[in-house]
Amino acid sequence: MTSSFDFGMAGLGVMGRNLLLNIADHGFSAAGLDLDPEKAAELEAEASGKPLKGTTDAGEFVRMLKTPRRIMLLVPAGSAVDSVITSLLPLLEPGDLIIDGGNSHFEDTNRRIEALREKNILFMGMGVSGGAEGARLGPSIMPGGDPEAYRLVAPILEAIAAKVDGQPCVAYMGAASAGHYVKMVHNGIEYGLMQLIAEAYDILKNAGGLNNKELHKVFKGWNKGALHSFLIEITANIFIKGDDRGEGWLVDKIQDKAKQKGTGKWTSQNAMDLGIPTPTIDSAVTMRGLSALKMERKMAAPHYTRAIENHSRPEREQLIAQVGEALYFAFIITYAQGMHQLTEASKEYGYGLNLETIARIWRGGCIIRAALLEQIRQAYTEQPELRNLLLSPAFLEAVLHGQHAARAIVKTAVDFGLPAQAFSSALHYFDAYRREQLPLNLVQAQRDYFGAHTYERVDREGVFHTNW
Ligand code: 6PG
Repeated sequence: MTSSFDFGMAGLGVMGRNLLLNIADHGFSAAGLDLDPEKAAELEAEASGKPLKGTTDAGEFVRMLKTPRRIMLLVPAGSAVDSVITSLLPLLEPGDLIIDGGNSHFEDTNRRIEALREKNILFMGMGVSGGAEGARLGPSIMPGGDPEAYRLVAPILEAIAAKVDGQPCVAYMGAASAGHYVKMVHNGIEYGLMQLIAEAYDILKNAGGLNNKELHKVFKGWNKGALHSFLIEITANIFIKGDDRGEGWLVDKIQDKAKQKGTGKWTSQNAMDLGIPTPTIDSAVTMRGLSALKMERKMAAPHYTRAIENHSRPEREQLIAQVGEALYFAFIITYAQGMHQLTEASKEYGYGLNLETIARIWRGGCIIRAALLEQIRQAYTEQPELRNLLLSPAFLEAVLHGQHAARAIVKTAVDFGLPAQAFSSALHYFDAYRREQLPLNLVQAQRDYFGAHTYERVDREGVFHTNW
């Protein structure tokens, strides 16, 4: 076998295989490695004339690749990444590049960059979003690390990425683990938007009395307007998917326990470390946790049937309009929280992130793609140093308008006993952010009272303590 292949992929699950098919569609030759012979064979079966070759032998795989070798890993985050690196390492030469395309924790990526630098192997952490279909037809790609490493793969990544207005949804994100960090925050935003949509569904269904067909119509309508986005679009489709194993709609047969692989939780954890509030993302993580407590919820339910008084249904058309406007408001707030976190992380970790570029490459291919991202991109073009989207004149009117609807639907949710934690958190974040005076002067007084933690004053400089 000659060393003629442009690219290598270790891990031929559906994502790895689809990315290779996408790469081959764009005229690059690629080799795939998987220890499972069925997966290697599947790649070749699907290749049908494309320059793709599958193997189970790491030695053969490495020998097939042109130097410097460009090898991407698409294996589950965690120890699997380390073991593939360990198995490939003795076969590689200085100057070769390993790209981790999974959802690895950014601190693991930093560690791997350092360890491989000692061996003169380039290592790049790269976020890839868009699921199996995105991988096949055009994902959004978030590479970070050594700029030299990015140059080695830029032509391939630009060819396979989704395109918006002719521009590829890929760009160099920044130093070290910037790529994986940006993807982590992408996923945090993804969690927030998904939870908001779930709450909108709950309110429309259980306060408004809408059935699945009506929900489909409402979401389909929203997708034609300001809320146009991938998540709204798939939600509309989900409502009218029939159950292929029985009567009725599939969505009604799915257990209400949401699983998670960790990226949303990492976003919240790191936001706490940075001291950046991301309450809507945190709410989404918390609600997944509460959803998982199904057995306890079942035990509690009969005890609390009297918790909620009966309320007459709100006027339907008004409720639908309010939920739509509240969703738009809360989507803005969720992106604002994620972008704020990126801004701070960029300083803290020296990533050198460009928020306009990030908004640009999120407009296509990824799970959080939305019409709104073009406005977000423009806001950062006009103000590259923007601290928070809420400070951008571009969003002022939309936020001022949407907050009325958010207040209305949070009240409806409270009356009907429907948990709307993501909506409430977005509204409360807004109410806190827009207020010059918060009651936390009292918290400072309490801290000083019991612990002599000191406080600052509004009328003079310095640090004070009082004998309370
Ligand atoms: C994407 C997604 C993807 C993520 C899933 C599942 O951008 O394509 O973010 O990378 O793995 O959405 O995440 P959870 O299992 O944590 O919900």
